[in-house]
Amino acid sequence: MIPTLEWKEDHLRMLDQTRLPREVVYVDCRDAQTVAEGIRELWVRGAPAIGIAAAYGVALGAREINERTFESFYKKLEEVSSMLAATRPTAVNLFWAIERMKKTALDCRNRSLKEIKELLLAEAHAILEEDIRRNKSIGQHGAAFIKNGDGILTHCNAGSLATGGYGTALGVIRRAWEEKKKIHVFADETRPVLQGARLTAWELLEDGIPTTLITDNMAGYMMKKGLIQLCVVGADRIAANGDTANKIGTYSVAILAKEHGVPFYVAAPTSTIDFSIPSGEQIPIEERNPKEVTHIFDKAHVAPENVNVANPAFDVTPAKYIKAIITERGAFRPEELKNLRVGRTDESGR
Ligand code: MRU
Repeated sequence: MIPTLEWKEDHLRMLDQTRLPREVVYVDCRDAQTVAEGIRELWVRGAPAIGIAAAYGVALGAREINERTFESFYKKLEEVSSMLAATRPTAVNLFWAIERMKKTALDCRNRSLKEIKELLLAEAHAILEEDIRRNKSIGQHGAAFIKNGDGILTHCNAGSLATGGYGTALGVIRRAWEEKKKIHVFADETRPVLQGARLTAWELLEDGIPTTLITDNMAGYMMKKGLIQLCVVGADRIAANGDTANKIGTYSVAILAKEHGVPFYVAAPTSTIDFSIPSGEQIPIEERNPKEVTHIFDKAHVAPENVNVANPAFDVTPAKYIKAIITERGAFRPEELKNLRVGRTDESGR
């Protein structure tokens, strides 16, 4: 798989996913502002990838700060962090990664500012590498739910492109494929931004995994025909009770799955769990530009001028529809999530 985010000598290379699958183009990010633009404009998207990009954004921003004392350096670092945090509201990994970077700076406040800047970059690298390791574990735990011959529905893109590499929901699918299970994936196209059609279908084809692209409104029909044995999706934020925000349309898939007796799984790293909120009610849902709905890629106009448009980018699937949440620490029923809170640490020991 080609990398979504990659550190090259002195800058971050960010794959511009808005141009996939037509062309593979990287943007060189040399400052925090470009990273923020990349997150806002969806050059990089997917909760874990957004978090990793923001971590590099903080490291790049730190590099530009010319102050003499830790206090004034940290004040400027907080400004950079706030700018990055204001890009997208739903994926909690963004805030998780930024907080971790700020803590890194605070923890080494007695070092020289030069050293602190180097440590911040090292922390961003660590976040990226940990994410790949976590996804491989998620894949391992999740593949156990997949049987030979299964049809699997996924929504949006929770693949290598949405993470440091390997993917969460697609990590589960990838691992089952690596275990030589005969599987067939149904990829929802995922209106309006088409992450399923442009990204998931592309990733799965690259790996040679049998895939059928369907429009979002075909999912029920495929389930009724008995072609789908399980659903697996990623997550942008999981509340303490297991309610899960993911790409708009996920909730409809979960309800269809329930009706058809198809198990519905969420695959996500523990960095996507927000224990500070008791339920999905508190998850902020991003409202995006109406043009994503009225136009196809800013070009073909598919709706009358001036029509009222709603464009929530995410919805919340209540925990009762989720069979298990597959994390790097194993698979848990939503009501078991609270056990994960105890002893929760990053690999770095935080
Ligand atoms: O708007 P996007 O493309 O950032 O939304 C992405 C999703 O909803 C993914 O399913 C989620 O972030 C999980 S990615 C591993």
